[in-house]
Amino acid sequence: HPALLDAALHPVALTADGQHSEAHLPFAWNGVTLHATQATALRVTITPTGSGIAISATDPAGQPVATIDELSLRPLPDAPSGPAQSNHLYALVWEALPTQNPTAADGWYALLTEHDPDVADALAGSLPDATRTYGTLTGLVEDCGDGAPPSVILAPCPSGSGDDVAGRAHAITRQALGLIQRFLAEERLASSRLVLLTTGSASVTGTGTVNLAQSPLWGLVRSVQAEHPGRITLIDLEGRATNRQALGGALAEAEPQLAVRGGVVHGARLVRAAGRGGTLAMPPGDDWRLAVSEKGTLEDLVLAPAVQADEALGSGQVRIAVRAVGVNFRDVLYALGMIPQDDRPLGGEGAGIVVEAGPGVDGVVPGDRVMGIFTGTGPTAVADHRMVTRIPDGWSFTQAATVPVAFLTAYYALADLAGVQPGQRLLLHAATGGVGTAALQLAQSWDVEVFATASPGKWPALYERGLDDAHIASSRTLEFKEHFGDTLGDQRIDVVLNALAGEFNDASLRLLAPGGHFLEMGKTDIRDPEEVAAGHAGVRYRAFDVLQAGPERIQEMLTELHDLFEDERLHPLPATNYDIRHAPEAYRHLSQARHIGKVVLT
Ligand SMILES: NC(=O)c1ccc[n+]([C@@H]2O[C@H](COP(=O)([O-])OP(=O)(O)OC[C@H]3O[C@@H](n4cnc5c(N)ncnc54)[C@H](OP(=O)(O)O)[C@@H]3O)[C@@H](O)[C@H]2O)c1
Repeated sequence: HPALLDAALHPVALTADGQHSEAHLPFAWNGVTLHATQATALRVTITPTGSGIAISATDPAGQPVATIDELSLRPLPDAPSGPAQSNHLYALVWEALPTQNPTAADGWYALLTEHDPDVADALAGSLPDATRTYGTLTGLVEDCGDGAPPSVILAPCPSGSGDDVAGRAHAITRQALGLIQRFLAEERLASSRLVLLTTGSASVTGTGTVNLAQSPLWGLVRSVQAEHPGRITLIDLEGRATNRQALGGALAEAEPQLAVRGGVVHGARLVRAAGRGGTLAMPPGDDWRLAVSEKGTLEDLVLAPAVQADEALGSGQVRIAVRAVGVNFRDVLYALGMIPQDDRPLGGEGAGIVVEAGPGVDGVVPGDRVMGIFTGTGPTAVADHRMVTRIPDGWSFTQAATVPVAFLTAYYALADLAGVQPGQRLLLHAATGGVGTAALQLAQSWDVEVFATASPGKWPALYERGLDDAHIASSRTLEFKEHFGDTLGDQRIDVVLNALAGEFNDASLRLLAPGGHFLEMGKTDIRDPEEVAAGHAGVRYRAFDVLQAGPERIQEMLTELHDLFEDERLHPLPATNYDIRHAPEAYRHLSQARHIGKVVLT
């Protein structure tokens, strides 16, 4: 078997003589004799010949299998390194595609339930009316008879169950191959397109876990696509109902491989690795920080050695072994050099384990898993003990890192600054971002009626939280004013939680009730409260920063939030997780607003 012969050559690396330690590759074969076939194990003797090696292979009983008089070797030329190397490297990225309106079905669709009836069932509601459901492909073909075949056949792929991932991968791939072969062999389906649906099998962010049992199918189907162009499409769903509703848009795409994440359809693209900022190199030593070498682009992010790891703790301080860090928009702006007056390091929140407590610390002890506000993005951080709280049992560090800034900001704004009451109406802009998602949870838990804006591609996440069309509008156009105005009728909004700017703010102010609260989290369009009050019937305008709450109040809020999490009245936010070495990609993901909830570095 070629793999056996290949393995037999690997010891060649050991023949380096110290003077010629560079890698050598096989170049020319001379005097090759095969004495026997079918050997499944080989005993191999390798003898240096000067310009190469001689090889003699026997089976375990000593019977000759192959002899090679000489395999000449050539040294591998020096590999390019640095920028030259990365210029030649390409990487696969998933690019968000412009939103496609689901087109009316051309012909009719068939949905096959044979491999995964549950996914098929969940999809049924998201498909065009002209969709018929079949147990098997055979049943579909029989039903078609001489009539027109379906234009699209949707087949959710099997996912299997159990811990034997390799076994499941084999079984799933075999079943899918069987389906593909039957489809391609069926002449009556020659004009149909087979759409295979997998779940969580494509690594869209390049991080996190993938459905390993299904992902080999992607390799298989790519080969089939090369042999039968245009006949088969792969679409990977995230597995949440939200994404299934985006399926219509994905089906309207002419691309062979697509992935739907957070209601947004992504296409696979090859890009130069150099253009992506690549992977950050880890510096030597145990302590380092994510930093900006030269502000201006996200390519300037580096992991730089840090020196303060052993500094003595002050009163009330704890040292934390950091496991996960939440990324905030301020980090992106800082990395881009857009807030030169701010010299705090990158990172303002995270989760980890307390490893040391200074004098005067109470509430947490070494060994506690905590989440909270602290600066820096590296393996250790020092925090004020009042700014951290214990992580609820059963949470991952990533989940915990989604909480501090988003929930504290939302809580402080809605409870402390607006004193929001049950039955009041909240206009919540960018309701699927970090603060938005947290504010939505809080408002709903307090029986506040929420009017939410978000990019249309993210609306499924709002539907999932129970909002209806009357309470959802785009965050990117001014239509929300008329749309929510219609929903409100004679009523008005009591509180606006805002980080938009310009005419968006004017439109929001016009929806506010006299004396209502306008809470400004953003920094780009700060207005004079007196002018706002004068122009808008006593509206109480407040631009705020959550840190203004002060450590004592932050401690109280963290305790209150902790109890709400323990009671499962609140939940950690959805997170897109990146390895710290992919920080440029994570920052880019946030800056392009591709996320729902939080972006987290681990
Ligand atoms: N004052 C404070 O104490 C405080 C605390 C935390 C955060 N903040 C600020 O509050 C804002 C929200 O924070 P966050 O953590 O929720 O941020 P985030 O997760 O990045 O969400 C911001 C959202 O803004 C929306 N957006 C609207 N127009 C946009 C545009 N032109 N470009 C990019 N995004 C746009 C995007 O949602 P759509 O795609 O749905 O439009 C995006 O997801 C940020 O400006 C942040 O700096 C302030």
